[in-house]
Amino acid sequence: MDVAYNLILIVHFIGLASVVGGFLVQMKSAEKGVNPAMWHGALTQLVTGVLLVGLAEMQDFDVDHAKIGVKLVVTIVITVLAFVGRKKPLPQIGLWGAIGALSIANIVIAVLW
Ligand code: HEM
Repeated sequence: MDVAYNLILIVHFIGLASVVGGFLVQMKSAEKGVNPAMWHGALTQLVTGVLLVGLAEMQDFDVDHAKIGVKLVVTIVITVLAFVGRKKPLPQIGLWGAIGALSIANIVIAVLW
């Protein structure tokens, strides 16, 4: 079970890299918007985050429900914004900026809360 938890945590980090990487790579572009890396990364974070919580509960790991609840709500907002933007014409500066800012906020919450 520990191996499964650690493997999913690794995929959680890859999802994080995908959302934030997809955001950062467009920093200098005039045509900013939701790219596939951001959309798939958001979905990855949602799925792996929920799986991590499930596995943690099964193993009686301590889970901070308030922190996880806030991360879950922020990630749902990110995923909805990415879904809305993924087929819209560029530029989508607002969507791009909101997804980047919320993703970085979730990293801050994950590490500092
Ligand atoms: C954009 C969305 C997300 C980002 C950027 C993110 C970021 C992170 C980071 C940086 C860590 C490692 C922090 C640490 O272990 O100290 C982490 C771990 C974790 N995250 Fe997320 N996360 C996101 C979404 C979610 C969601 C939606 C959930 C659950 C519903 C979740 C649940 C967890 C859990 C359970 C851990 C493991 C903590 C541990 O083993 O200590 N995450 N996340």
